[in-house]
Amino acid sequence: MGARMDVLLGAQWGDEGKGKVVDVVAPDYDVIARFQGGPNAGHTLLFEGRKHVLHTIPSGIFREDTVNLIGNGVVIDPVIFLKEVNALKAIGVDVRNSLLISRRAHLILPTHRALDAASEAEKGTSKIGSTLKGIGPTYMDKTGRNGLRVGDMELHDRSERYRALTKKHERLLLQYGRPAAPKEAEEEWLAAVDVLRSMRLVDSEHYLDQALRNGKRVLAEGAQGTLLDIDFGTYPFVTSSNTISAGACTGLGVAPNRIDKVVGIFKAYCTRVGSGPFPTELENATGEHIRNVGQEFGSTTGRARRCGWLDLPALHYAVMVNGITELAMMKSDVLSNMDELRICTGYKVDGKATDRMPYDITSRVEPILQQVDGWGDLSTDTPLPHGLERYIAMIEERVGVPVTLVSLGPDRAETVHRQAAAVH
Ligand code: IMP
Repeated sequence: MGARMDVLLGAQWGDEGKGKVVDVVAPDYDVIARFQGGPNAGHTLLFEGRKHVLHTIPSGIFREDTVNLIGNGVVIDPVIFLKEVNALKAIGVDVRNSLLISRRAHLILPTHRALDAASEAEKGTSKIGSTLKGIGPTYMDKTGRNGLRVGDMELHDRSERYRALTKKHERLLLQYGRPAAPKEAEEEWLAAVDVLRSMRLVDSEHYLDQALRNGKRVLAEGAQGTLLDIDFGTYPFVTSSNTISAGACTGLGVAPNRIDKVVGIFKAYCTRVGSGPFPTELENATGEHIRNVGQEFGSTTGRARRCGWLDLPALHYAVMVNGITELAMMKSDVLSNMDELRICTGYKVDGKATDRMPYDITSRVEPILQQVDGWGDLSTDTPLPHGLERYIAMIEERVGVPVTLVSLGPDRAETVHRQAAAVH
């Protein structure tokens, strides 16, 4: 059967630092493949002293000799994609050499963005806090069997197909009392599509099958995080795709028995951007401190992220639904020098204690917090300070998988690889 594919994904509410880990491990892989989400994602990489944010393009793009694939499960906004391509070109990265795009990936139209905004406005105070990139409406058209795919753009009647779908959207927008997208948006979109279809378009399921048969090492790169999964996240405050490891199968066309490692990325604390339940949220000076030290502001929208303590029942749940085999803990440096640290070990739901993630984490859910020792600063003779090692041991014991990578800062160099400890 050849080689097997590894999966790397977020184990919390997104923004865990997946971009950095993919960049660090990229030399171990021949192909890096995005399998879901779209430009709602913002994967930040610090490279040669400069910050780069990728929205649609996989995080292996800065490594020579790595093939980057945008899979069928991804939704692409051609206008945002073109901006990303041009920004990379400006720093000397020509994506034409190393980027492949699945013909089955669906396209985000300007009217999808308009519908996203209309739907959020209609929800009022119960809005999702969407990034307003048109993600929900595009996946709705996909499952409703109305969508436009990248492969459709190779057909001579692509403009007619675009107009037919746009007309349908305009009728919906009228119901919302919203104007249609301006004419210039259409021109910009069609011009960007011309660039998109000049790229290397592939049937990703065949491409990956062949690559794996030839012994190539493939990494599937997730976007957002487990708790934003359409099925297992904190519905309805979620994104519209399967962010869990199963999404790598459907989003790339790779069978489940070809998956090997599943690497879960989490931060030493929790953050969430947008609305929805967040049991360990700190709406106080401690939360503010974590936000400022961790620079917790959205890379796609600039919004301040909500911050809170690490939530072990939620992390355990992520390990379970993804089959995570090892964990990478990010931003450990942000908790350095804090007098008081806490970890959530369970919840109280209607006064009853549980260590399970409940069906509905609403305001009835109260976190059970355990105080733990901090670790001063990170300067130490050992790779990691003892307090930080104890913090990690507590996590490993609870969730049953090893933390094999610890990130101590944004740069590639600020990364410690740990031996997989024997945990059960
Ligand atoms: P949408 O996917 O843009 O519709 O957003 C739905 C929810 O997921 C909102 O709460 C967003 O803030 C959140 N979200 C979407 N993409 C990301 C991401 O890449 N990181 C963190 N949160 C995200």
